[in-house]
Amino acid sequence: MDARIASDCRMTSPTRPDDRPRAESDLPAAWTFFRQWLRNPLTVAALSPSGRQLARQMIAELPHGTERVIELGGGTGVFTRALIGHGIRPQDLLVLELNETLYQHLRTRFPDCHVVCGDARELEAIAARCGFLAAGPADAVISGLGLLSMTRRTQADILNAAFRVLKPEGRFVQFTYGPKSPVGRDLLAELGLSVRRGGFAWWNVPPATVYVYTRNRSRGIQAVRADARA
Ligand SMILES: C[S@@+](CC[C@H](N)C(=O)[O-])C[C@H]1O[C@@H](n2cnc3c(N)ncnc32)[C@H](O)[C@@H]1O
Repeated sequence: MDARIASDCRMTSPTRPDDRPRAESDLPAAWTFFRQWLRNPLTVAALSPSGRQLARQMIAELPHGTERVIELGGGTGVFTRALIGHGIRPQDLLVLELNETLYQHLRTRFPDCHVVCGDARELEAIAARCGFLAAGPADAVISGLGLLSMTRRTQADILNAAFRVLKPEGRFVQFTYGPKSPVGRDLLAELGLSVRRGGFAWWNVPPATVYVYTRNRSRGIQAVRADARA
């Protein structure tokens, strides 16, 4: 699938004070999302968009001083809006969405961001093609993907692609509705990654837990030493 890239984006910030998932003004987005879930329940992987409490807890896991972020599975843009509200410049945000209808929705709502209709497994090629990598690797990947319902192979492809476009100390931030990390210990060991549990969003529908994946320290040190020798 060709990557389509929008180069402009409007700055918007959240105004609703509470943590419940939707305000009246979000209903059209929730309806669009629900219709896409009816058509593609496995890839959309949720009945409704994430709530603001979960968005805040995802953003709380960004490394200090984060400037450039990649979002996987943007949906209707709940995390996108929160990232911009947090101060990430739209031009420093790359949002990938596989579903064509949701991609069009994101493109209209965030015309100043890099918004691409594409598969997270092809993240490295997409990020290079749209020029996002010209300014260097990203500080963080914020993932709204339904990793839990993906095969081990797909999880591995996505994590590999993500860590190829992240800084050595970069973080992959993921939420899940399940009781434990959606990526198993054996796969983490194979990929040289560590995981830690982040916040829990009680008010989300359904409640969700945040997990943060990073490179194992020993591998990071090896990579730095190899760079220093080159
Ligand atoms: C659980 S929804 C989360 C949407 C949004 N981030 C939120 O929290 O409301 C997962 C999203 O990932 C998208 N998606 C699924 N597989 C994908 C893939 N391989 N590459 C990019 N996006 C994907 C779906 O179309 C859907 O919009």
